Amino acid sequence: MVDDRMAEEEPAKEMLSRLESLGPDDPDFLPLLEQLRLAVLAHARAEERYEFIKLREVMDAATLAQLARAVKAAEAVAPTHPHPGIDTTTENLVAGPAAAVVDRVRDAVRRALSDSP
Ligand SMILES: [Fe+2]
Repeated sequence: MVDDRMAEEEPAKEMLSRLESLGPDDPDFLPLLEQLRLAVLAHARAEERYEFIKLREVMDAATLAQLARAVKAAEAVAPTHPHPGIDTTTENLVAGPAAAVVDRVRDAVRRALSDSP
């Protein structure tokens, strides 16, 4: 089940990365955005129908709450841009923090440049 969800996330990362490089004025942007929207909805449905139900079957409420806190902590230090090719949990754990630092520095520089007169 985890492999299936991870496999669904890789094309989404690739679409996000392509959208980022295209920019909103490109004629391919909106059709690709719609394709991404449909893929994300299908992925979310699969998570809700299979993954979350299974987690509720095997974990008590306290463990689920602990897991939710761990997810929020991971999100706080996660990369802010898509990184296609980092598609396993292990790769995410190893490469994610470095990518997050690079992303957050790049975001800060872009914000600073867009705020300057
Ligand atoms: Fe997901």
